Amino acid sequence: MMNLLEVQEIHTFIGQFHILEGVDLAVPVGSITAVLGRNGAGKTTTLKSVLGLTPPRSGRVIFDGQEIQGRRSFDIAALGIGYVPEHRAIFRDLSVLENLKIAERKKGDLARKEEFIFNLFPDLKRLIKLPGTNLSGGQQQMLAVARALVPDNRLLLIDEPSEGLAPVIIEQMMEAIRQLSANTTVVLVEQNFLMASRLAERYVIIDEGQTVKHGLMADLVADKATIHRYLGAA
Ligand SMILES: Nc1ncnc2c1ncn2[C@@H]1O[C@H](COP(=O)(O)OP(=O)(O)OP(=O)(O)O)[C@@H](O)[C@H]1O
Ligand SMILES: [Mg+2]
Repeated sequence: MMNLLEVQEIHTFIGQFHILEGVDLAVPVGSITAVLGRNGAGKTTTLKSVLGLTPPRSGRVIFDGQEIQGRRSFDIAALGIGYVPEHRAIFRDLSVLENLKIAERKKGDLARKEEFIFNLFPDLKRLIKLPGTNLSGGQQQMLAVARALVPDNRLLLIDEPSEGLAPVIIEQMMEAIRQLSANTTVVLVEQNFLMASRLAERYVIIDEGQTVKHGLMADLVADKATIHRYLGAA
Protein backbone atom coordinates (compact mmCIF):
# COMPACT_ATOMS: atom_id res chain seq x y z
CA MET A 1 0.00 0.00 0.00
CA MET A 2 1.38 3.39 -0.99
CA ASN A 3 1.77 6.10 1.63
CA LEU A 4 0.51 9.46 0.44
CA LEU A 5 2.25 11.13 3.39
CA GLU A 6 5.25 10.01 5.40
CA VAL A 7 6.77 11.90 8.28
CA GLN A 8 10.13 10.50 9.31
CA GLU A 9 11.77 11.33 12.62
CA ILE A 10 10.99 15.06 12.59
CA HIS A 11 12.31 17.43 15.22
CA THR A 12 10.62 20.81 15.46
CA PHE A 13 11.54 23.79 17.59
CA ILE A 14 9.30 26.72 18.48
CA GLY A 15 11.64 29.48 19.55
CA GLN A 16 14.09 27.78 21.87
CA PHE A 17 11.68 24.99 22.79
CA HIS A 18 12.25 21.52 21.38
CA ILE A 19 8.60 20.59 20.77
CA LEU A 20 8.78 17.54 18.49
CA GLU A 21 11.52 15.09 19.37
CA GLY A 22 11.02 12.35 16.80
CA VAL A 23 7.58 12.15 15.23
CA ASP A 24 6.86 9.48 12.61
CA LEU A 25 3.66 9.17 10.68
CA ALA A 26 2.67 7.02 7.69
CA VAL A 27 -0.62 7.75 5.97
CA PRO A 28 -1.74 5.24 3.34
CA VAL A 29 -3.54 6.72 0.35
CA GLY A 30 -7.30 6.57 0.72
CA SER A 31 -7.29 6.12 4.49
CA ILE A 32 -8.29 8.08 7.55
CA THR A 33 -5.41 8.12 10.03
CA ALA A 34 -6.07 9.42 13.54
CA VAL A 35 -3.38 11.36 15.41
CA LEU A 36 -4.03 10.88 19.11
CA GLY A 37 -2.41 12.12 22.30
CA ARG A 38 -2.95 14.23 25.38
CA ASN A 39 -3.16 18.03 25.57
CA GLY A 40 0.19 19.48 24.63
CA ALA A 41 1.53 16.22 23.18
CA GLY A 42 2.48 17.82 19.87
CA LYS A 43 -0.43 16.92 17.57
CA THR A 44 -1.03 20.42 16.21
CA THR A 45 2.69 21.05 15.87
CA THR A 46 2.94 17.87 13.80
CA LEU A 47 0.32 19.15 11.33
CA LYS A 48 2.02 22.57 11.22
CA SER A 49 5.36 20.88 10.60
CA VAL A 50 3.95 19.00 7.60
CA LEU A 51 2.67 22.32 6.24
CA GLY A 52 5.91 24.18 6.92
CA LEU A 53 4.25 26.60 9.33
CA THR A 54 6.63 25.36 12.02
CA PRO A 55 9.27 23.84 9.74
CA PRO A 56 11.07 20.81 11.16
CA ARG A 57 14.77 21.36 11.91
CA SER A 58 15.54 17.75 10.97
CA GLY A 59 13.80 14.69 9.60
CA ARG A 60 11.82 14.25 6.42
CA VAL A 61 8.28 14.96 5.24
CA ILE A 62 7.41 13.04 2.08
CA PHE A 63 4.22 13.78 0.16
CA ASP A 64 3.40 11.62 -2.83
CA GLY A 65 7.01 10.49 -3.05
CA GLN A 66 8.58 13.99 -2.91
CA GLU A 67 10.46 15.47 0.03
CA ILE A 68 8.67 18.68 1.00
CA GLN A 69 10.33 19.70 4.28
CA GLY A 70 11.92 23.12 3.96
CA ARG A 71 9.53 24.34 1.26
CA ARG A 72 7.31 27.36 1.80
CA SER A 73 3.82 26.71 3.19
CA PHE A 74 2.18 28.19 0.13
CA ASP A 75 4.04 25.76 -2.12
CA ILE A 76 3.25 22.82 0.15
CA ALA A 77 -0.48 23.64 0.17
CA ALA A 78 -0.41 24.03 -3.61
CA LEU A 79 0.67 20.38 -3.93
CA GLY A 80 -2.85 19.54 -2.77
CA ILE A 81 -2.75 19.58 1.02
CA GLY A 82 -5.71 21.19 2.79
CA TYR A 83 -5.65 22.28 6.41
CA VAL A 84 -8.51 22.74 8.84
CA PRO A 85 -6.89 24.41 11.87
CA GLU A 86 -8.18 23.97 15.43
CA HIS A 87 -10.75 26.33 16.96
CA ARG A 88 -12.99 26.78 13.88
CA ALA A 89 -10.72 29.04 11.89
CA ILE A 90 -12.99 31.02 9.60
CA PHE A 91 -13.27 34.71 8.76
CA ARG A 92 -16.05 35.78 11.07
CA ASP A 93 -16.71 39.13 9.36
CA LEU A 94 -17.11 37.50 5.96
CA SER A 95 -20.23 35.70 4.75
CA VAL A 96 -20.32 31.95 4.25
CA LEU A 97 -20.05 32.52 0.48
CA GLU A 98 -17.08 34.89 0.87
CA ASN A 99 -15.34 32.41 3.18
CA LEU A 100 -15.70 29.74 0.50
CA LYS A 101 -14.79 32.05 -2.38
CA ILE A 102 -11.46 33.16 -0.90
CA ALA A 103 -10.55 29.53 -0.28
CA GLU A 104 -10.21 29.03 -4.06
CA ARG A 105 -6.77 28.14 -5.34
CA LYS A 106 -7.74 28.21 -9.01
CA LYS A 107 -10.45 30.12 -10.81
CA GLY A 108 -13.67 28.12 -10.79
CA ASP A 109 -12.78 25.90 -7.81
CA LEU A 110 -15.93 26.85 -5.91
CA ALA A 111 -18.23 26.42 -8.91
CA ARG A 112 -16.81 22.91 -9.41
CA LYS A 113 -17.11 21.93 -5.75
CA GLU A 114 -20.22 23.68 -4.45
CA GLU A 115 -22.65 20.85 -5.15
CA PHE A 116 -20.43 18.38 -3.30
CA ILE A 117 -19.90 20.81 -0.40
CA PHE A 118 -23.58 21.69 0.00
CA ASN A 119 -24.53 18.02 -0.13
CA LEU A 120 -22.16 17.39 2.76
CA PHE A 121 -23.25 20.48 4.69
CA PRO A 122 -26.79 21.53 3.67
CA ASP A 123 -26.89 24.14 6.48
CA LEU A 124 -24.19 26.15 4.73
CA LYS A 125 -26.30 26.58 1.62
CA ARG A 126 -29.16 27.97 3.70
CA LEU A 127 -26.79 30.35 5.53
CA ILE A 128 -24.78 31.41 2.49
CA LYS A 129 -25.26 35.16 2.92
CA LEU A 130 -24.79 35.30 6.67
CA PRO A 131 -21.54 36.45 8.26
CA GLY A 132 -19.54 33.77 10.04
CA THR A 133 -20.20 35.42 13.35
CA ASN A 134 -23.93 34.59 13.04
CA LEU A 135 -23.22 30.87 12.70
CA SER A 136 -23.42 28.39 15.58
CA GLY A 137 -20.22 26.68 16.70
CA GLY A 138 -21.13 23.59 14.72
CA GLN A 139 -21.90 25.59 11.59
CA GLN A 140 -18.59 27.46 11.91
CA GLN A 141 -16.76 24.13 12.14
CA MET A 142 -18.61 22.88 9.06
CA LEU A 143 -17.58 26.03 7.22
CA ALA A 144 -13.97 25.53 8.32
CA VAL A 145 -14.00 22.00 6.83
CA ALA A 146 -15.87 23.18 3.73
CA ARG A 147 -13.18 25.82 3.02
CA ALA A 148 -10.57 23.06 2.78
CA LEU A 149 -12.75 21.22 0.24
CA VAL A 150 -12.90 24.15 -2.22
CA PRO A 151 -9.51 23.62 -3.88
CA ASP A 152 -8.44 20.22 -5.24
CA ASN A 153 -6.77 18.58 -2.28
CA ARG A 154 -5.48 15.03 -2.13
CA LEU A 155 -4.76 15.20 1.58
CA LEU A 156 -6.69 16.95 4.35
CA LEU A 157 -5.22 17.68 7.76
CA ILE A 158 -8.12 18.24 10.16
CA ASP A 159 -7.37 19.41 13.71
CA GLU A 160 -9.95 18.51 16.38
CA PRO A 161 -13.15 19.01 14.41
CA SER A 162 -15.34 17.81 17.28
CA GLU A 163 -13.98 20.25 19.85
CA GLY A 164 -16.77 21.91 21.80
CA LEU A 165 -19.57 20.54 19.64
CA ALA A 166 -22.81 18.91 20.81
CA PRO A 167 -23.13 15.14 20.26
CA VAL A 168 -25.69 15.47 17.45
CA ILE A 169 -23.41 17.90 15.58
CA ILE A 170 -20.43 15.59 16.13
CA GLU A 171 -22.44 12.84 14.42
CA GLN A 172 -23.06 15.13 11.42
CA MET A 173 -19.40 16.08 11.28
CA MET A 174 -18.36 12.41 11.43
CA GLU A 175 -20.70 11.55 8.57
CA ALA A 176 -19.31 14.41 6.49
CA ILE A 177 -15.70 13.33 7.13
CA ARG A 178 -16.59 9.74 6.28
CA GLN A 179 -18.12 10.86 2.98
CA LEU A 180 -15.33 13.24 1.98
CA SER A 181 -12.75 10.55 2.77
CA ALA A 182 -14.04 8.62 -0.25
CA ASN A 183 -12.14 11.13 -2.43
CA THR A 184 -9.47 12.51 -0.11
CA THR A 185 -6.96 10.97 2.27
CA VAL A 186 -7.44 12.34 5.80
CA VAL A 187 -5.23 12.93 8.82
CA LEU A 188 -7.55 13.54 11.75
CA VAL A 189 -6.31 14.95 15.05
CA GLU A 190 -8.88 14.08 17.70
CA GLN A 191 -9.15 14.08 21.49
CA ASN A 192 -12.57 12.44 21.17
CA PHE A 193 -11.41 8.83 21.13
CA LEU A 194 -14.84 7.44 20.34
CA MET A 195 -15.10 9.62 17.24
CA ALA A 196 -11.55 8.82 16.14
CA SER A 197 -12.02 5.10 16.66
CA ARG A 198 -15.22 5.03 14.63
CA LEU A 199 -13.72 6.94 11.69
CA ALA A 200 -10.09 5.96 11.36
CA GLU A 201 -8.58 2.71 10.12
CA ARG A 202 -5.14 3.57 11.47
CA TYR A 203 -3.79 5.57 14.41
CA VAL A 204 -0.65 7.20 15.69
CA ILE A 205 -0.16 8.20 19.32
CA ILE A 206 2.09 11.15 20.06
CA ASP A 207 3.29 11.66 23.62
CA GLU A 208 5.68 14.37 24.79
CA GLY A 209 6.66 15.17 21.22
CA GLN A 210 7.37 11.61 20.12
CA THR A 211 5.47 8.94 18.23
CA VAL A 212 5.06 6.19 20.80
CA LYS A 213 2.61 3.81 19.10
CA HIS A 214 0.97 3.29 15.73
CA GLY A 215 -1.02 0.65 13.97
CA LEU A 216 -4.53 -0.47 13.15
CA MET A 217 -7.32 1.25 15.07
CA ALA A 218 -9.06 -2.08 15.67
CA ASP A 219 -5.98 -3.25 17.61
CA LEU A 220 -5.86 -0.06 19.68
CA VAL A 221 -9.55 -0.29 20.59
CA ALA A 222 -8.83 -3.71 22.10
CA ASP A 223 -5.73 -2.43 23.94
CA LYS A 224 -7.18 -0.80 27.05
CA ALA A 225 -3.79 -0.48 28.74
CA THR A 226 -2.37 1.67 25.92
CA ILE A 227 -5.51 3.78 25.75
CA HIS A 228 -5.34 4.36 29.49
CA ARG A 229 -1.63 5.09 29.52
CA TYR A 230 -1.47 7.62 26.68
CA LEU A 231 -4.98 8.92 26.23
CA GLY A 232 -6.33 8.78 29.75
CA ALA A 233 -9.65 7.56 28.37
CA ALA A 234 -11.56 4.53 29.61
N1 LIG B 1 4.11 29.19 20.27
C1 LIG B 1 4.53 28.33 21.21
N2 LIG B 1 5.51 28.69 22.08
C2 LIG B 1 5.94 27.83 23.03
N3 LIG B 1 5.47 26.60 23.18
C3 LIG B 1 4.50 26.19 22.36
C4 LIG B 1 3.98 27.03 21.32
N4 LIG B 1 3.03 26.34 20.65
C5 LIG B 1 2.96 25.14 21.25
N5 LIG B 1 3.83 25.05 22.27
C6 LIG B 1 4.04 23.89 23.14
O1 LIG B 1 4.29 22.77 22.34
C7 LIG B 1 3.70 21.61 22.90
C8 LIG B 1 2.86 20.94 21.85
O2 LIG B 1 1.79 21.80 21.49
P1 LIG B 1 0.69 21.37 20.45
O3 LIG B 1 -0.20 22.54 20.26
O4 LIG B 1 1.33 20.78 19.27
O5 LIG B 1 -0.07 20.22 21.25
P2 LIG B 1 -1.42 19.45 20.95
O6 LIG B 1 -1.11 18.01 21.06
O7 LIG B 1 -2.01 19.94 19.69
O8 LIG B 1 -2.34 19.87 22.19
P3 LIG B 1 -3.91 20.19 22.29
O9 LIG B 1 -4.56 18.86 22.42
O10 LIG B 1 -4.02 20.97 23.56
O11 LIG B 1 -4.34 20.94 21.08
C9 LIG B 1 2.92 22.07 24.13
O12 LIG B 1 3.70 21.81 25.27
C10 LIG B 1 2.79 23.55 23.91
O13 LIG B 1 2.74 24.22 25.14
MG1 LIG C 1 -3.72 20.98 19.23
